[in-house]
Amino acid sequence: MSNDGREGILVTGATGQIGSELTLALRERYGGARVVAGVHRTQPTGALKDSGPHAVVDLTRPQTVVDVLDRYGVDTVYNMAAVLSAVGERNPDVAWRVNLDGLYTLLEIGRERGLKRLFCPSSIAVFGPDTPRDHTPQMTILRPKTMYGITKVAGELLAEYYWERYGLDVRGIRFPGIISNQTLPGGGTTDYAVDMFYRAIADAPYTCFVREDTVLPMMYMPDCIRATIMLMEAEGEALRHRASYNVAAMSFAAGELAREIRRHVPGFQCAFEPDHRQAIADSWPRSIDDAAAREDWGWQPEFDLAAMAIDMLEMLRERRKQGASEDVLDEG
Ligand code: SER
Repeated sequence: MSNDGREGILVTGATGQIGSELTLALRERYGGARVVAGVHRTQPTGALKDSGPHAVVDLTRPQTVVDVLDRYGVDTVYNMAAVLSAVGERNPDVAWRVNLDGLYTLLEIGRERGLKRLFCPSSIAVFGPDTPRDHTPQMTILRPKTMYGITKVAGELLAEYYWERYGLDVRGIRFPGIISNQTLPGGGTTDYAVDMFYRAIADAPYTCFVREDTVLPMMYMPDCIRATIMLMEAEGEALRHRASYNVAAMSFAAGELAREIRRHVPGFQCAFEPDHRQAIADSWPRSIDDAAAREDWGWQPEFDLAAMAIDMLEMLRERRKQGASEDVLDEG
């Protein structure tokens, strides 16, 4: 589809865990003025505010999307607005509206206005208890038990329908739990992997909400950003899948993570008291087969557990030294 000389990029959910770092990375790569941070309730601060434009984008009000597309000549959208698994169980209706109705709005606008490309992230939450849990294949049983997972399966199918039916260039990755040190995740089942670092760095004990032997696939934020940009820049002809690529980086048990952190923070104490999120974790894979992503667009992770832990602690210590957001660093 023609892009009529437009070259703006919109990131929805730009103040979120992935959105905030993705927006900065895209600005670094393509120029600050080209990348609009789409914000909803939370206003951008710091580098996110200073390095480029931001605008209110409410996916439940399509006109707000159209206005930003027109104003900034947007031809590419990264849809990072989402309600994650744990919050989605508390508010299934909101999860449906944001994750699925929101995507539908973007797909319809994308079709009508000839967007060049749309990134619609998916998740390991598309899998469920009937899915093989080790080396989970690309093509497999998708029968999730969470509203989040249901919206992601439906979203993958819907997005791929727009590709097949209308030629809208949709692309997406099934992200594992994302570990990051800038913006906290909001209400996911894999959040314990982030919380543990924040507590350790604050010399505080942590009570983990899944069992010690719970193994889930995870990925460090730099790999998440790299995967996203790699897929979006890949040759379209090479893509055998569209909105549903499995990607893997590392898998570890919650207890293994605590032990890894303890190697660097010897006094770190971690207790394990599973809550309702255990059932969600138990319904997800332990490890992922990402051969299709490796073959089709050259995916390869850079961070394993050991490298990620070193970098996380270094980054958090640095921020603590600078006295940045003590309140956030103490959260968890
Ligand atoms: N991190 C997400 C969650 O836990 C999974 O995609 O909900």
